[in-house]
Amino acid sequence: MTQDAAIGIHDLSFATTEFVLTHKALAAHDGTDIGKYHVGIGQQSMSVPAADEDIVTMGAAAAAPITARHGTDQIRTVVFATETSIDQSKAAGVYVHSLLGLPSSARVVEIKQACYAGTAALQFALGLVRRDPSQRVLVIASDVSKYDLGSPGEPTQGAAAVAMLIAADPALVRIEDPSGLYTADVMDFWRPNYRDTALVDGHESINAYLQALEGSWKDYIEQGGRALGEFSAFCYHQPFTKMAYKAHRHLLHVCGHDTDAAEITRAIGHTTAYNTVVGNSYTASMYLALASLLDHGEDLTDKAIGFVSYGSGSVAEFFAGTVVPGYREHLRTAGHQEAVARRKPVDYARYGELHERSFPADGGDHPVPRETSGPYRLGARARPWGTARAVL
Ligand code: HMG
Repeated sequence: MTQDAAIGIHDLSFATTEFVLTHKALAAHDGTDIGKYHVGIGQQSMSVPAADEDIVTMGAAAAAPITARHGTDQIRTVVFATETSIDQSKAAGVYVHSLLGLPSSARVVEIKQACYAGTAALQFALGLVRRDPSQRVLVIASDVSKYDLGSPGEPTQGAAAVAMLIAADPALVRIEDPSGLYTADVMDFWRPNYRDTALVDGHESINAYLQALEGSWKDYIEQGGRALGEFSAFCYHQPFTKMAYKAHRHLLHVCGHDTDAAEITRAIGHTTAYNTVVGNSYTASMYLALASLLDHGEDLTDKAIGFVSYGSGSVAEFFAGTVVPGYREHLRTAGHQEAVARRKPVDYARYGELHERSFPADGGDHPVPRETSGPYRLGARARPWGTARAVL
């Protein structure tokens, strides 16, 4: 593995929604034994966007603390990763660029490949900073995970955005080469243009994830990556937190290691604190796992972390990072905990109304109720595609 030019995650911040639905409320509505949600899939609650929130408002809220701390002068690129885009043409990041007052001399682009796109954005950013280490790249991964009401995917929904500043000499995590890569054309989960909820073959998607993990790990080793025993922790894509446990057990098995439950909990237990209460945030999910690990884990200075990024369809990447000395001084633990704690509980009926709400597709302006108390919201007369404006 190589680390000669140290480039990686210099700052990381996440934001989530105004509302939250507990799995207790969902179970009471659909008559499911709560053990299936709390233990079987490992979820306690899901973030629910207000009518005036979307991937742009969450993305801006996640990134604002980063630009406040570091300024905007060195940012030459914004990469916005999402699979729940609001426009087929214009990058959602252009709205964020405007909301945050970023320089006109910064390019903005949107990237898609299901939940993997956050990692594609990170790799894009690493390449740009490697080419010119004086530049910084703002990566934003933002998604609203939505399945049909009453479908098996419903309890795995969620929403969040992660923003990361990618820079030379990073303060949090140095990202290493090589990466292990894997692509296979499978129909495990997809969302064609005519739908705003995803279609999924749930059990097939779990198998596809495990196959992709195995394939990316094998490629990682062939490319000269670290041995499994060198890693102190693993951040997995977490469509639901139990998936990380299934995945790590599979990786240990593939590598011929003991699949001891205590060892699995030691390696990934601290990565699930945010995902278990936020739900699936698609492109942001693995980086929420990183935030959780850094905010809640023991001292990780100079320790290697394994990252397993999976996006249905499917593409996976296994890569490693090393935690930088002094990283704890740069964490945003209090802000992250506040983002989760400030959400207002909604009952199933209110959640159902928000879930079924959609913008009319007539191209005109339509009133949007003021609901969120977050720093950004859809404008009072937002366009159907979600023009976001700052609250004054
Ligand atoms: P399901 O059929 O509702 O649930 O589907 P199940 O019957 O498989 O039960 C789930 C677990 O709960 C099982 O444990 C049960 O035994 C257990 P397991 O056998 O898996 O260890 N269980 C209980 N445990 C305790 N007490 C009880 C109880 N009852 C049952 N009373 C499924 C579950 C996850 C498939 C469904 O929610 C779904 O379709 N989710 C959406 C798809 C998904 O999340 N796939 C994950 C892999 S694909 C991926 O990660 C990509 C994705 O993020 C999208 C992208 O990349 O863009 C989704």
